[in-house]
Amino acid sequence: MIEIEGITFAYDGNDVLQDISFKIEKGEKVILLGVNGSGKSTLLKLLDGLIFPKSGRYAYQNTKITKKQLKESTFSADFRSKVVLLFQNPDVMIFNPTVYDEISFGLKQLNRDHIDERVNFWADKLGITPYLKKPPFHLSSGEKQKVCLASLLVLEPELLLLDEPASNLDPLATGWLVDFLGELEETVIITTHNLSLSTELGKRSLVLSRDHRLIYDGDLKDFLTDADKLIEAHLMHTHKHKHGQRYHKHFHIHDWD
Ligand SMILES: Nc1ncnc2c1ncn2[C@@H]1O[C@H](COP(=O)(O)OP(=O)(O)OP(=O)(O)O)[C@@H](O)[C@H]1O
Ligand SMILES: [Mg+2]
Repeated sequence: MIEIEGITFAYDGNDVLQDISFKIEKGEKVILLGVNGSGKSTLLKLLDGLIFPKSGRYAYQNTKITKKQLKESTFSADFRSKVVLLFQNPDVMIFNPTVYDEISFGLKQLNRDHIDERVNFWADKLGITPYLKKPPFHLSSGEKQKVCLASLLVLEPELLLLDEPASNLDPLATGWLVDFLGELEETVIITTHNLSLSTELGKRSLVLSRDHRLIYDGDLKDFLTDADKLIEAHLMHTHKHKHGQRYHKHFHIHDWD
């Protein structure tokens, strides 16, 4: 479904993805890991066709995704409804005057039918029905994240790119997300810094190093028990612990929340 071959991407002349290659089959749930700045959000934007590599090849369903290809309006409308990205920061996605308008925007653009029914269905699923008439700007971060998620799910996409989808969610909503993704047949690529949550979200992981290379592609649980790989990815850290009056220091992979 997705083929990435030797992709290198640079911002202002600095490579932030270096020679990345992988394939993802339909229906896979892939967890993208890496420290801050390793290139996770950049990779998701590239898969969403928002930015384009300086070298290498990206094919979605056997079609090469290029700037030129996405200028073709029929292809672009189809690709944009099938491949969706939940941004790390919901504020950059929200621009409509009401939550209802926000969720229905894509459906209207694509001339879909039963708009009311679809919006109400997803608003109900995500528990945001009471906010439908409100300005999204007035919502809490977690509520905004749910509005953004609803605005994508309403399109019934084939590929969901979720950048830190649980970062603002409370335990109840996170539990819902885990169950929802577990039942979903679509392909999902998710980034998270929450390693203990990651095993609930998918089986395979792709791991980016601090110098923007793909250093692991395989079973997530194997990765999380491989101390050498975790240290290489800087996902294992040392910090001080206080035991009574004594401090000691050792490696940890636990999450902070
Ligand atoms: N628009 C931009 N212009 C210039 N540099 C950018 C831009 N966006 C990101 N970068 C840089 O690219 C690198 C990768 O950023 P990216 O946002 O992909 O990292 P990330 O792995 O998602 O990090 P985080 O865990 O903090 O979300 C970083 O060094 C970042 O500073
Ligand atoms: Mg990011």
